[in-house]
Amino acid sequence: MAVGSCWLVVLVIGGVLGFSLSLVLNHFLPLLLKGGLVPKGTFGWPLLGETFSFLKPHSSNSVGAFLQDHCSRYGKVFKSHLFFSPTVVSCDPELNYFILQNEGKLFQCSYPKPIHGILGKVSMLVAVGETHKRLRNVALSLVTITKSKPEFLNDIERIAIHILDSWKNKPKVIFCEEARKFTFNVIVKQVLGLTPEEPDTSKILEDFLTFMRGLISLPLYIPGTPYARAVQARSRISSTVKAIIEERRRNPDGNSKKRSDFLEILLSVDTLSEDEKVSFVLDSLLGGYETTSLLMSMVVHFLSISPTALQQLKQEHQKIRSMKQKHEDHLDWEDYKKMGFTQNVINEALRYGNIVKFVHRKALKDIKFKGYLIPSGWKVLPVFTAVHLDPSHHAKASQFHPWRWESQDPKCKKFTPFGGGSRCCPGSDLAKVEVSFFLHHLVQNFRWKTEEEDKPIAYPFVEFQRGLVLNVDPCSETTM
Ligand code: HEM
Repeated sequence: MAVGSCWLVVLVIGGVLGFSLSLVLNHFLPLLLKGGLVPKGTFGWPLLGETFSFLKPHSSNSVGAFLQDHCSRYGKVFKSHLFFSPTVVSCDPELNYFILQNEGKLFQCSYPKPIHGILGKVSMLVAVGETHKRLRNVALSLVTITKSKPEFLNDIERIAIHILDSWKNKPKVIFCEEARKFTFNVIVKQVLGLTPEEPDTSKILEDFLTFMRGLISLPLYIPGTPYARAVQARSRISSTVKAIIEERRRNPDGNSKKRSDFLEILLSVDTLSEDEKVSFVLDSLLGGYETTSLLMSMVVHFLSISPTALQQLKQEHQKIRSMKQKHEDHLDWEDYKKMGFTQNVINEALRYGNIVKFVHRKALKDIKFKGYLIPSGWKVLPVFTAVHLDPSHHAKASQFHPWRWESQDPKCKKFTPFGGGSRCCPGSDLAKVEVSFFLHHLVQNFRWKTEEEDKPIAYPFVEFQRGLVLNVDPCSETTM
């Protein structure tokens, strides 16, 4: 072999070795620098750390093998290496609360970079500082204006009745699909004023599904990959929304009825740029679609295995209906306030079903908490599921027991299905009204049985493996 080729081989081998060594050093260096007071735990493999074990699917009403194993070995707060970063994982309600309450001061929202690529820079879900504050203020005021408005409540009810009517000649339905149809139609109507029949609705839905698939795919921007398709779908949704905005500006009185959707109010807001308004619409669709439909599926699934709770729920809704002057009168905000047991069922489905397992944060400085050190720059993951299912915080935590909420305050630190602090979900009230109104009509008009054993699995995004197939049987109020 020529001397030149030998050198080339040596150089390549040296390069590979040097690169591997730097990966290993880079992976374990934080341990050497920050050892000492950092919580116990392991960093796993170079680069990937323990990410795959952490993300291993498990039933969403269990904590999964990884957390079970690590908490029993190292305690409720431990270190690991996840999502390419040294990480402190917290299954402790006090620390979770501390993290959520100190957003922007000691900790900051820190979702993986590829998510920013899809959501865009000005999405409320990833924005920080002043931008986040501006977007959030608009979101909170929109929800406050909307949640008890008769137009919003009537829309929810109309869409629920329309979907349930379509079940009358069907022996079975795939409930997760029906629930998605419902929440998408509600949110698109509320945000953009569009009905299911309008062509823009199906265009947005198609792009939106592509967009959602990209959020949970490998972040490779190569044409044809789900990630690349999602980025393109986002830009198409932006164009559709921009066109709707343009049309409204050109033709403000186009619809004889006064519009009361988010877009109408957004158009008059002068604290947001055009791109921020478009992004705001996308955030509302994204936040309000999958999570709420999943909550509906959780409720239906857990009620199928809790006949006593289902019976009590039916009685609550029959009573509300019987107090209406005319049988077909719409539900209103006063009716909603009477749905006390429904709220207990929803809270219990949120606790036991765990729609959002954890959120992503990073430490902005070295932080000491209960004798631990959380080093600056490390990822911090408050895990809500672990607290929700911890028997030392919730008696008989492994049982679906809605009655616990008769004596337990849902605003406590150990129950955080919607997160907390300055990033707490702004849509939580909307989601609860939607689910309550759908349940009102479901429990009074149908009996159902789950066809096959199906359960919610945390991938960690939660899904029912078979889509929750229900055998449905119409029943009138009098026969129940
Ligand atoms: C059952 C239903 C829902 C669940 C479980 C849920 C859960 C959550 C959680 C845990 C967060 C906090 C994320 C973090 O701290 O990083 C969040 C934020 C958010 N949610 Fe929801 N959500 C639901 C429904 C909705 C609805 C109906 C909307 C809109 C109409 C919505 C819009 C948002 C937005 C915009 C944020 C970002 C808030 C911020 O960063 O300030 N969500 N949600």
